[in-house]
Amino acid sequence: MYINIALPKGRLGKKSYDLLKKIGYSCKELEEEGRKLVFTSEENKVRYFWVKPSDVSVYVEKGIADIGVAGVDVLMENEADVYDMLDLGFGRCYFAIAAPRGWEYNGNRTIKIATKYINYARKYFEKMERKVELIKLNGSVELAPMVGLSDAIVDIVETGATLRENNLDIIEKLENISARIIVNKVSYKFKNETIEKVLEDIRGEL
Ligand code: PRP
Repeated sequence: MYINIALPKGRLGKKSYDLLKKIGYSCKELEEEGRKLVFTSEENKVRYFWVKPSDVSVYVEKGIADIGVAGVDVLMENEADVYDMLDLGFGRCYFAIAAPRGWEYNGNRTIKIATKYINYARKYFEKMERKVELIKLNGSVELAPMVGLSDAIVDIVETGATLRENNLDIIEKLENISARIIVNKVSYKFKNETIEKVLEDIRGEL
């Protein structure tokens, strides 16, 4: 039986593929340079989808992919209805609220927050009962407070370099993030043996 795997384009995806290759799921096609997005290895009975990181959970939730690699940030933002089966231990970073150095929160005012993680941020500020106006961006979020688009941001921080170089300080550190193996709920039932073997082999490699 074929297994379908959604990988996040980029560094995280490459690292995940290396791991899957080690446990017997290599795919020659995927290792060639090009613009293809789907790769099959007849030999190893695996098909890979190379997708935008924030879309991995969509492919897995809808059952197009049986398993995928996604960050906790993506899972929380998309509220993905999938099994979160395994912490890969890499792709580590965290959610944070950040603002320009010296910025002070005046409790009465509605603060403007720019973020890629609009659902996550909405839920967080609702829980805190803070009035905010959320501005959805798709990247380079650190620019927003520097040019007056927002007061602060909610974003992920890895090394902190982007914050530092744009004169932003962390106001609050939120959830820790790492890459996870996620599994489609129906696939887990019907391809249980294959999926359990993948999980076991990955655990052995980590
Ligand atoms: C991510 C994130 C931060 C940065 C954090 O952006 O949104 O901007 O990385 O990393 P650092 O703490 O190591 O500096 P990404 O590189 O994905 O680009 P984007 O701004 O286009 O989303």
